[in-house]
Amino acid sequence: MKIVVTGGLGFIGSHVVVELQQKGFEVVIIDNLSNADKNVLNGIAEITGITPVFEELDLRDKDSVVDFFSRYTKIDGVIHFAASKAVGESVENPLLYYENNLNTLVYVLQEMQKKENANFIFSSSCTVYGQADIMPITENAPVKPAESPYGNTKQIGEEIIKDVCNVTPSLKAIALRYFNPIGAHKSAIIGELPIGTPQNLVPYIMQTATGQREQLSVFGDDYPTPDGTAIRDYIHVVDLAKAHVVALEKLLKNDMQSNFDFFNIGTGKGSSVIKVVNTFKKVTGTNLNYKIVARRKGDVVEAYANTTKAKSILGWQTELTLEDALADAWRWEQKISS
Ligand code: UFG
Repeated sequence: MKIVVTGGLGFIGSHVVVELQQKGFEVVIIDNLSNADKNVLNGIAEITGITPVFEELDLRDKDSVVDFFSRYTKIDGVIHFAASKAVGESVENPLLYYENNLNTLVYVLQEMQKKENANFIFSSSCTVYGQADIMPITENAPVKPAESPYGNTKQIGEEIIKDVCNVTPSLKAIALRYFNPIGAHKSAIIGELPIGTPQNLVPYIMQTATGQREQLSVFGDDYPTPDGTAIRDYIHVVDLAKAHVVALEKLLKNDMQSNFDFFNIGTGKGSSVIKVVNTFKKVTGTNLNYKIVARRKGDVVEAYANTTKAKSILGWQTELTLEDALADAWRWEQKISS
């Protein structure tokens, strides 16, 4: 079975490629290297013993997309990660986000629509729920107006796929709504490679603990939560990667009730910022310098998943803990910063 992974050298994509290859899938990676390092290919090869096929191309270039799919005619599925993902940057430069995240999606779907049989997995986000009224969040929770162009591209992306599936019986698709992916492969051979100052909590913690950053700023301790800091559902990237493989297998078995569906992919457990900081200290025995500052604009109070649908329909649930994820992220961080 041949699977195309767009953005396959990125943080989540590379872990998915590893899991796919370990399950016997043949992988073709598409990446334009805008936010990924080509060396990740060697890392994937080191872990799995197989170097995936790599096509360096930019999905914003429609001709390249058409050309790619004319060269690779026998493809069993596409997992589409290639996208920009910085919330703040999307506010500054919305057209970049609409072009990177939506034009590319349209071009890939246009090619998939031509096939007799096409399976598609889309990288979506719990950001589509905004501040949900009820915790944990089920898939029935309403989609709220997006807080940023980035969030909007995930909502519109899902709508595009749903509309295309409606008129294309040969196309089957699943959107996975990720909560907060963290961690690294346990081998410490691949992991997250933030460019510039990290915007996300766990990479910032890692760089603070190694001394690259002076201090972690905890954004707000006056939220209506037990310790006053905001709550998220942090999921180990390897558990998240495995969710893609089971979702793909579901599509390949033609085992869906409808040809488009979406699932929450999280642990089901909420952790506050302070809980993450304290767990990091406990697991690694490392001190962490932090201070409480004002809330960050656009942050929701809490977001954690109800995972019943993924469990019952995909037969998937997380196996790793917050402790595992922080220990693995720390081992990776020590390797890349040494
Ligand atoms: N936080 C800090 N200090 C930091 C960074 C983050 O206190 O330096 C806090 C945030 O305020 C938030 C929590 O840590 O309460 C998690 O923040 P992240 O930036 O790691 O993650 P978010 O939940 O804000 O964002 C993530 C993804 C987005 C996605 C969103 C969906 O990064 O792509 O989840 O809710 F849109």
